[in-house]
Amino acid sequence: MALLQKLLRTKPIDHLQHEAKQETGFVKALGPWQLTFLGIGAIIGTGIFVLTGTTAAQHTGPALVLSFTISGVGCLFAGLCYAEYAAMIPTAGSAYTYAYATLGEFFAWIIGWDLILEYLFASATVAVGWSGYAVKFLQNFGVQIPPALCSSPLVFQHGVWSHSGALFNLPAVLVCLAVTILLVLGIRESSNFNNIIVIIKLAVIVLFILCGSAYINTHNWVPFIPENTGRFGEYGWSGIMTGAGVIFFAYIGFDAVSTAAQEARNPQRDMPRGILGSLLICTILYILVSLVLTGIVPFKELAVPAPVALAIDRAGEGLRWLGPLVQLGAIAGLSSVVLVMMMGQPRIFFSMAKDGLLPQSFARLHPKFGTPHVTTILTGLFASVMAGLLPIGILGELVSIGTLLAFTIVCISILVLRKTRPEVDRPFRCPGLPWVPLAGALVCLAQMVALPFDTWLRLLIWLAIGLAVYFFYGLHHSRLSARQS
Ligand code: ALA
Repeated sequence: MALLQKLLRTKPIDHLQHEAKQETGFVKALGPWQLTFLGIGAIIGTGIFVLTGTTAAQHTGPALVLSFTISGVGCLFAGLCYAEYAAMIPTAGSAYTYAYATLGEFFAWIIGWDLILEYLFASATVAVGWSGYAVKFLQNFGVQIPPALCSSPLVFQHGVWSHSGALFNLPAVLVCLAVTILLVLGIRESSNFNNIIVIIKLAVIVLFILCGSAYINTHNWVPFIPENTGRFGEYGWSGIMTGAGVIFFAYIGFDAVSTAAQEARNPQRDMPRGILGSLLICTILYILVSLVLTGIVPFKELAVPAPVALAIDRAGEGLRWLGPLVQLGAIAGLSSVVLVMMMGQPRIFFSMAKDGLLPQSFARLHPKFGTPHVTTILTGLFASVMAGLLPIGILGELVSIGTLLAFTIVCISILVLRKTRPEVDRPFRCPGLPWVPLAGALVCLAQMVALPFDTWLRLLIWLAIGLAVYFFYGLHHSRLSARQS
């Protein structure tokens, strides 16, 4: 078979739907609430607890709320496309499988490889953020972790790598390992743990919004859109757009719900509910938190690692009681992001291995726990090493660009599939075709363009490594090619 034909082979939808119905060994334990909670578990984390402050201070001012709205609308468009796919082809492979059905094996591989950037690197990024909060929280009880054991030994500044003098980030490694063990033990256990955590973090955020709103000083909202300084991205409308690109990180995670499709009891009905419900709840909360935050603290003073804690301090005595709770909420919040991201990655590996693009051992499920234990452990070890050694900034932007690429391809491929297979049963249909997917793809592309050149370079290097793996391994072991050649 000619190489080009092989690269563009698609996996028939009927095939995929049949596979999704077959007994896989996955435990079907998730209902609509668990799926929505998985989404919220993955979404609310570093973005709201850490990034909001610097984004308001450096790019948007009180107009942070507009950045959240723009990024949220872009994600909602992509979310509608994900929902259509996840209900139609409920498999663990998520965007990888969707691309296999529409754009061909080569694009599917690129997406699968790209999703590794999202899930694996996101777990490591958030584990580093978790470590920062956990170290501070322990200090409240007089427990001091030596600095050499709670920061990255490598520093990347002004394009140069150097050594910080630290050994490694122990708490970040520990959280990755603990989550790995939980994920191997079972989806039900992981989901129950996630539910508890999500309730804690939602309670803390709602308390902050309700109690904090009494301390808003509306003068802090004036001017609502501070005048641009003359540099692109520093306030004004360009600042709002740059802010949307940075804050996009806060929304990442709703797509991870789709990787649990084979563990859902009724995926056709519940996947759209889980994906869109979690996204909607988080968008509303983000908008309210950013209003309260910029209403309590003058935006220029928000450039701190823990802006929510700062707002509570500024509110004065009346809100002091909320301080430790917010720290606890942040620690809980970040743990569940690590959990759901580390849940997504092995399931993508699982699907790629089932298709022959990765070694068969990656598609093994644990005979007792019904979890993809080989890939879960592998993901956990990789994430631990990265979280232990690398600084947070370098990881975060890679996650955003990888995710934006996946969203763009999902939006485009929805259009392709509606044209090529209009008759396939779609339990959920993305409304407003072609405009919603097109707008989704455009908003994602625009946010990619706003990311620094270095990040693009790293994405390209990552994809080049992926292509090498594909041409040396996947191309020759692909089940689809074997069947069809
Ligand atoms: N959305 C997730 C977070 O903000 C990745 O931590």
